[in-house]
Amino acid sequence: MELFTVTDSCTGCGLCATACPASLVRQRAPGSPPQALAGREAHCIRCGHCVIACPTKSFLHALLPPEDFEPIRRKEFPSPASLRHLLMARRSCRAYAPTPVPRSDIVALIETVRHAPTGHNMRQVGYVVVDGPGRMDAARQLVLDWIALEVAAQSPRAAELHLAGAARAAARGKDVIFRGAPHVIVAHAPIKGISPDVDATIAAAWLEIAAAASGFGACWCGYLMFALAAHPPVNAALGIPAGHRGYAALLFGRPATRVGSIPPREMPGVEFF
Ligand SMILES: Cc1cc2nc3c(=O)[nH]c(=O)nc-3n(C[C@H](O)[C@H](O)[C@H](O)COP(=O)(O)O)c2cc1C
Repeated sequence: MELFTVTDSCTGCGLCATACPASLVRQRAPGSPPQALAGREAHCIRCGHCVIACPTKSFLHALLPPEDFEPIRRKEFPSPASLRHLLMARRSCRAYAPTPVPRSDIVALIETVRHAPTGHNMRQVGYVVVDGPGRMDAARQLVLDWIALEVAAQSPRAAELHLAGAARAAARGKDVIFRGAPHVIVAHAPIKGISPDVDATIAAAWLEIAAAASGFGACWCGYLMFALAAHPPVNAALGIPAGHRGYAALLFGRPATRVGSIPPREMPGVEFF
């Protein structure tokens, strides 16, 4: 299979060759049309940069049909000031309306963040959305079972995360694990991937921001994340595909209350090297 073809309108500018991160698009001489590095087609990561770099739309990628490309509408970008305000106003939500969020709304948010970067453009992050009070109870119990194991073993993790206290609060009926959220969304990726933990974490971080922009509440669920990491059966019990692990988890729902101001955060250290 030919990885790409170029039409007669190609000017030989070479921007496609410069854009290919895998160096599969080669230009023999300035002004000449690009050629594919023979026998290396399987190394294409399908990022689409060769296609979008072409100023004359002459570059046709065999695996990426032109109709699947969307024009960029720069006028619709948030201003730097509005993006800054959104990022500063995003807060961890720990008080949720109990009503579940329609599945279509959750899928729409996940669709929004599907362009989050992944190592080598692997795009293998998937999501499990725990949906409904019964399933949330079952998921909470999985976390509590893991907490009980850590507490019984007097593990360093139990001490560092005050897990005995969390277990006592849960026994008193206080939901310190899921904070009454109607959903928890787990981002998972293949254990043997190139950068599964980072890919899933970036995806969840984008999801948290997209949720804030749409008026939803979200909060990282460290207890579940630690349980997924430390106790592999939790992954299968949550329906995470075999060979994958849940690396990031967000509580999710409609906020029960709204806050009106942004708390202070110190400026991080910055060094120029
Ligand atoms: C990896 C990670 C795990 C977290 N786990 C929990 C958690 O289990 N429960 C919780 O209430 N908040 C959790 N949080 C939220 C932090 O406590 C929160 O980000 C921090 O207190 C600052 O508040 P803000 O997000 O509103 O700025 C977690 C945050 C991160 C990044």
